[in-house]
Amino acid sequence: MSQSHTGTESRTPETEGWGAETFAPEPADLAAARALADERGIPPISLAASEGQLMQVLLRLHGSKKVVEVGTLFGYSAVWIARSLPADGHLWTLEMDSLHADTAEEVFRMTGVSEKVTLVRGPGNDGLGSIESDGPFDAIFLDADKAGYPGYLDWAESHVRAGGLIIGDNTYAFGRIHRDAESLDPSQRPGTTGLQAFNRRLADPERYVGTLLPTGQGMTVAIKK
Ligand code: SAH
Ligand code: DHB
Ligand code: MG
Repeated sequence: MSQSHTGTESRTPETEGWGAETFAPEPADLAAARALADERGIPPISLAASEGQLMQVLLRLHGSKKVVEVGTLFGYSAVWIARSLPADGHLWTLEMDSLHADTAEEVFRMTGVSEKVTLVRGPGNDGLGSIESDGPFDAIFLDADKAGYPGYLDWAESHVRAGGLIIGDNTYAFGRIHRDAESLDPSQRPGTTGLQAFNRRLADPERYVGTLLPTGQGMTVAIKK
């Protein structure tokens, strides 16, 4: 049998690391934003720079102008998103933790994107309800409570336009996406089953053109039909 050059055998930590470093050097202001978040004890769970770059490629390809994000943290992914929008584009980003939200407001000033971003404080479900009249939206990025993804997708089905983009982070469910609910620790069930339901809905070819991109955490991307 001849040796194949397709498939995954060329993706190693070394080759992947080289690609990430080459294509997504981190802007200095975003490195400073991470340092500020670390100083404040905010958990280091933002996108990686390479994933921020991927978001930019997706949003620019798509031509998204009006974007919603659920789960701001300190604003890292929001800055990557804001920088992918045209001059008349806007991001609404939703966050319920006040330390995270206060820090994100600072980060938006530090990085010069404040005018393009509206931070909506409070639980994601309330925030989504409060921005409905600004829709319909071109894209939504889900990155908050994992058990909440199906509910956020219900909202997106009404408020993201046909042809719009739905993106979810952490869709490998921290390595547990393939597992039966009964085999999981009860504390891990709601998040895992939420992410399973989210992925299954976006895998329905009648309603979406979707894929689960193999980032470190898994990133599901789907176009709404
Ligand atoms: N998108 C960010 C990372 C988000 S981390 C980035 O890549 O930079 C997840 C965030 O969601 C945390 O800040 C957490 O406080 C927030 N969160 C968790 N549950 C939430 C909810 N129900 N409503 C709004 N925000 C929530
Ligand atoms: C967690 C949340 C995230 O969105 C992420 O990308 C990584 C970790 C968490 O809640 O632990
Ligand atoms: Mg995430």
